[in-house]
Amino acid sequence: MQAKQVMVITGASRGIGAATARLAGARGYAVCVNYRKNRQAAESVVEDIRNKGGQAIAVAADVAVAAEVTRLFEAVDAQLGRVSALVNNAGILEQQRRVEEVDAARLARIFATNVIGSFLCAREAVKRMSSKHGGAGGAIVNVSSAASRLGAAGEYVDYAASKGAIDTFTTGLSAEVAAEGIRVNAVRPAFIYTEMHASGGEPGRVDRIKGSLPMQRGGHPEEVAHAILWLLSDEASYTTGSFIDLAGGK
Ligand SMILES: NC(=O)c1ccc[n+]([C@@H]2O[C@H](COP(=O)([O-])OP(=O)(O)OC[C@H]3O[C@@H](n4cnc5c(N)ncnc54)[C@H](OP(=O)(O)O)[C@@H]3O)[C@@H](O)[C@H]2O)c1
Repeated sequence: MQAKQVMVITGASRGIGAATARLAGARGYAVCVNYRKNRQAAESVVEDIRNKGGQAIAVAADVAVAAEVTRLFEAVDAQLGRVSALVNNAGILEQQRRVEEVDAARLARIFATNVIGSFLCAREAVKRMSSKHGGAGGAIVNVSSAASRLGAAGEYVDYAASKGAIDTFTTGLSAEVAAEGIRVNAVRPAFIYTEMHASGGEPGRVDRIKGSLPMQRGGHPEEVAHAILWLLSDEASYTTGSFIDLAGGK
């Protein structure tokens, strides 16, 4: 019998993270739904998974804070077992601004969550997955963005640059742990209908842009979730250091 698959997914109280958590629960993963503030939303994702016969817990932790990330993984060890899949999904952007209007405090917030948070979570996962540390292997998916290729000029170049760092992180970490039973890949979504665009000050951003996309429509969180679950699955067993773009052809 296959060992139980245990997933940690960061920022899973809504949007792409919540859709991925629900799909993972339906596919038999025991799922840790991480969130930062919105406990009620995270608990409702957990309830959806449990109502369909799955196993899930919600754990609050700010991924930008090392001690909270350590606590998150210790909670998973104790309540679900050893992690076999990590989705580094938590990510933030702020109000649309030109680069000369961005201050250092904002840069620190964006890079702390999007980049440092992903490193800290991967660090805890590798300690548990790597054959070098007695682990049974595993898979990591980083949620980057098409912004890493496109640059988000006039909107949030800081956010785009943080996702550029995630692409490089994916390439480097994948090579570092490939011989230790761990695959590391990334998805690069864009123009997905979630609440993130409201943080940029334009809740209707996807509908404004969709006409300029080759596919002429925005994407849905579930479409990203399917790509993430494929990259984590044995069907992707020879795939590491790879990127799946989910941006309507852009
Ligand atoms: N939507 C898009 O078009 C799009 C495009 C490209 C890439 N992405 C990427 O996809 C990922 C998910 O985006 P989304 O659109 O689903 O975003 P979203 O709807 O804004 O959800 C963000 C999630 O991240 C959590 N979060 C934020 N900061 C956190 C922190 N420091 N620690 C732990 N959790 C934190 C939030 O939890 P709380 O509610 O508890 O704060 C929430 O669950 C992000 O990495 C984003 O950059 C999205």
